[in-house]
Amino acid sequence: MERPRGTRDFLPEEMERRRRVEGAMRATALSFGYGEVQTPTFEHTDLFVARSGEAVVEEMYVFQDKGGRSLALRPELTAAVMRMYASDLTHAPKPLRLFYSGPCFRYERPQKGRYREFFQFGAELIGSPTPEADAEIIALAVRCIESAGLCGTVVRIGHVGALRAVLEWAGVTGPLSARAFPLIDKGETQGLEELLMDHVPRERLEALVEYVTAAGGAEVVGRARAAFAAVPKAVEHLARLEEALGHLSHYRDVLCTVHLGIARGLDYYTGVVFEVDYPGLGAEKQVCGGGAYELGQVFGLKEVPATGFAIGLDRVVLAAGEAAAAGGGTPAERAREGAVVVPMDRSGAVMALAVEAAEAVRAAGLRAELEVLRRPVGKALKAADEQRLRWAVIVGTDEAARGEVALKDLVSGEQRRVPLGDIAAAMGR
Ligand code: HAM
Repeated sequence: MERPRGTRDFLPEEMERRRRVEGAMRATALSFGYGEVQTPTFEHTDLFVARSGEAVVEEMYVFQDKGGRSLALRPELTAAVMRMYASDLTHAPKPLRLFYSGPCFRYERPQKGRYREFFQFGAELIGSPTPEADAEIIALAVRCIESAGLCGTVVRIGHVGALRAVLEWAGVTGPLSARAFPLIDKGETQGLEELLMDHVPRERLEALVEYVTAAGGAEVVGRARAAFAAVPKAVEHLARLEEALGHLSHYRDVLCTVHLGIARGLDYYTGVVFEVDYPGLGAEKQVCGGGAYELGQVFGLKEVPATGFAIGLDRVVLAAGEAAAAGGGTPAERAREGAVVVPMDRSGAVMALAVEAAEAVRAAGLRAELEVLRRPVGKALKAADEQRLRWAVIVGTDEAARGEVALKDLVSGEQRRVPLGDIAAAMGR
């Protein structure tokens, strides 16, 4: 039987690469003071309907359980983390720094880098309304991506609040704004002009298009601030964006460009928003998205300022593979390590010593694989060589009687007798 479309199996080698990337990101998040959380893979459908926005809801896997409840496989984790915050963490000292890693589900058309089951690594910084918090979360996203071996990625930064203020000024509100947002987000200027032509006066439309296509260095923000000086909300939000950029400039090698048309696909964003692309990936090149949002009120709380991001782990793993290939062919061959432990027969004394030897190797922090196919020594060693193991621990009746094993170095071919207690030392541990 085939796997469901848009899902994948991960074999051990791939899984090792994925865990390495995830582990590096986890270590980075911990170093910034973030604590790991986990939420369920399914939630009440309402959680996402009210909180994540239409685009995500359309792609959701929704089902009824046997009790007739409407449940949904989570398309993302931000709404769930805020639900958890509202129920368990409102009294925790602020700010709260949380991170997570896990599967998400979206009914999208699968292609390279886009799956129906995919994995996100994300973080949320809850309870701080400052631009320093914006800068920290962006820097953390970049450091996590770098930890996977991707360098030179450029962060695109904008401000959804400012974008909304400019749209409002142009008279684009309600359903019209909902239709305009995805066009702006995708940079479809022509479609946007066609949509708004009959609703927005020519001059304002031109100013709006200029705004949503504005991109470049920090000076872009200053220019937009001057152009929309008569729109106080836009001025206020753009000043905030400038402050966040200022704080971000203190982080070494965090490269960013301003894109005032970043709209993001989720409804809850209110402030500074950002995205990170890895151009080598083709159509699905966005490896990270995030920004400041306000979800407190939908949980019956007062305002809870928060900002966060989610990295597409699958895309980062793909990109890291491509970066390694571009940087000099195939990834380095796996280093030889660990040992195969081969009992010469199945007698109690020999097996006892073989198991004890394997446990001693593991206790020393090395891999030990017990020969469980009952192959002759020669065949077992050949297989170990192919598995890139470094050592063979051979246990025969004579050795067992003396509490010794034969330790063979599979690289040099040297073999010697070693007392059980000295195995780790003989392996250089
Ligand atoms: P998002 O932009 O919808 O944001 O998703 C974040 C990342 O998940 C994307 O940049 C992409 O790398 C990856 N991703 C999304 N869909 C797929 C897919 N079908 N297959 C593979 N990768 C995918 C969020 O989910 C927000 N919760 C981020 C956030 C956290 N904002 C504030 N806090």
